[in-house]
Amino acid sequence: MDLRINSFDDYKRVYDYSVAEPENFWGSVADTFYWQKKWDKVLDWNFTEPNVKWFIGGKLNITENCLDRHLEKNADKTAMIWEPNDPEEHYRSFSYKELHFKVVQFANALKNNGAKKGDRICIYMPMVPELAIAVLACARIGAIHSVVFGGFSAQSIADRINDAQCNLVITADGGFRGSKDIPLKNIIDDAIVQCRSVNRIIVLTRTRTPVSMIKGRDVWWEDEIKKVETQGNPDCPAEPMDSEDPLFILYTSGSTGKPKGVVHTCGGYMVYTGYTFKTVFQYQPGEVHFCTADIGWITGHSYIVYGPLSQGATTLMFEGVPTWPDAGRFWDIVDKYKVNILYTAPTAIRSLMSFGEEPLQGKHLSSLTKLGSVGEPINEEAWHWYNEKIGKGKCPIVDTWWQTENSGILISPIAGITPTKPGYATLPLPGVQPCLVDEAGAELIGNGVSGNLCIKFPWPGIIRTTYGDHERCRLTYFSTYKNMYFTGDGCLRDEDGYYRITGRVDDVINVSGHRIGTAEVENAINMHADVVESAVVGYPHDIKGQGIYAYVILGTSTHDHDLTRRDILQTVARIIGAIAKPDKIQFVSGLPKTRSGKIMRRILRKIAEGDIANLGDTSTLLDPNVVEEIKQGAADL
Ligand code: PRX
Repeated sequence: MDLRINSFDDYKRVYDYSVAEPENFWGSVADTFYWQKKWDKVLDWNFTEPNVKWFIGGKLNITENCLDRHLEKNADKTAMIWEPNDPEEHYRSFSYKELHFKVVQFANALKNNGAKKGDRICIYMPMVPELAIAVLACARIGAIHSVVFGGFSAQSIADRINDAQCNLVITADGGFRGSKDIPLKNIIDDAIVQCRSVNRIIVLTRTRTPVSMIKGRDVWWEDEIKKVETQGNPDCPAEPMDSEDPLFILYTSGSTGKPKGVVHTCGGYMVYTGYTFKTVFQYQPGEVHFCTADIGWITGHSYIVYGPLSQGATTLMFEGVPTWPDAGRFWDIVDKYKVNILYTAPTAIRSLMSFGEEPLQGKHLSSLTKLGSVGEPINEEAWHWYNEKIGKGKCPIVDTWWQTENSGILISPIAGITPTKPGYATLPLPGVQPCLVDEAGAELIGNGVSGNLCIKFPWPGIIRTTYGDHERCRLTYFSTYKNMYFTGDGCLRDEDGYYRITGRVDDVINVSGHRIGTAEVENAINMHADVVESAVVGYPHDIKGQGIYAYVILGTSTHDHDLTRRDILQTVARIIGAIAKPDKIQFVSGLPKTRSGKIMRRILRKIAEGDIANLGDTSTLLDPNVVEEIKQGAADL
């Protein structure tokens, strides 16, 4: 069976084959990778425990696929280009040979510091090449990386380190983001006070921010590299990994409790991210791929590091933010490096759109051939702007839908092949079997239907477990609907069978493409000394997609509401990180509760959305008067 997709008919043919014979299909895809030992069986699965295993018995190391295997023919090809935060600073670029060298060198430094297969290593770094090098070096020796986004607070890092019992942390003195300096090592020092498992911290020099280096615990990256040089060992054999050995943990928010550690495994993750990268973007040798995500999120893991590198692509990594020093920064980068594929988030597009066309003046964007969108629904206005102003009407837009739990893209057009429709993620990729179900769990057959989006058959990149708590994985994803993976998203399938994701149906808010659990934000707000109770909901936000709206009941001691509001924001920033700060805080004297004490979020959501004419039935409330007061307060906010 020829699995190449050069036309829409090819897509349909390959898709049908992938559903009819999933094991043969994925076996053929996996054959395009380098395995130390081939698998004995492609798939074993059930969604009840759940227990999903791909490429059983196979041995591999993902870094041999991302690095070593390109050395024979493409050693001098550019693997990675790095654009610094400050446009005046010199860029860096690494050929495959150079990147391989750096990775094995740092892998040896990790070993010198006692790291070994199966250890959990927390990485809290700015977007510098050493972040990608650290990730790959962990994979090289079989250590499980847990990258924490640089915007998270000390408390969030401590929670993640403790959950995974990391023994080593890799960080930097600080990081540059736009006009800001983030004191990463200081934040780690605050976190580590609570973490008994950590015995070593490797610190890269980036900002020259003064840091405290504790004897016997903290070492400099640069010194450790020198030691490896002195030892004169230029290689670091790639640790043989079982297909189902964990590759990494990445924490993500859900509707309840603390973030969970999503676990992905070596074989399935490699095959899925490599295949989807090549297929969705129709990557052609020599093209420069610019994914604007941060490696602290799944998009960065899969489409800056592993996916592009496993396919021998040139991946571009950017340290800064789209609006600094001005709103033309992305376009300068596209122009400077002749970027072919740009993969970004709707929130960035909307933000850049708001600056008008001036930042585009004089920027040559003609190198672009394909555009991608990820992270949240893209509104039609943003889609058209992206298409016309950036793609000049000649670049297909792939609106890619997927999640941290999925490893890679599940529903998306294939660039230049699937006819697109603004706002639609269009059709499932080969090997992906979505379905829509109603509240009762009955599958909705046919087109022109809306429901909850589930996937009824495993794909190689599906979540294997939530670290240290398999039951949580089962409950969250596999217990809502029998024999299905539940995504938490609502979705429409239109008359053409095209999928349009309508947003989360659970208590998760998508702020600028980042998932934030309402319960997490409430817990953080409730930690403030004057707060009695709070309820958090999402509301439509012009730039961020969704904003965070908090209703807060204060104790009697508070007089200065403005100051308290700022104190609450500071508390949330301390507990979670600045990304979780509410956009609006409304002080209320009570919350709409049912007689059994449950908060009626539906009403709070409507009020936050400004849809007060339509609150529905409020007769079951304990105290319906509270709704009137909240409506009034919202109008005054
Ligand atoms: O609600 C969906 C939304 O982002 C959620 C997944 O978030 P996260 O795990 O942080 O991963 C983001 C990057 C893959 C989904 O449940 N989402 C993601 N992509 C899209 C989207 N919503 C609509 N359209 C998309 N293309």
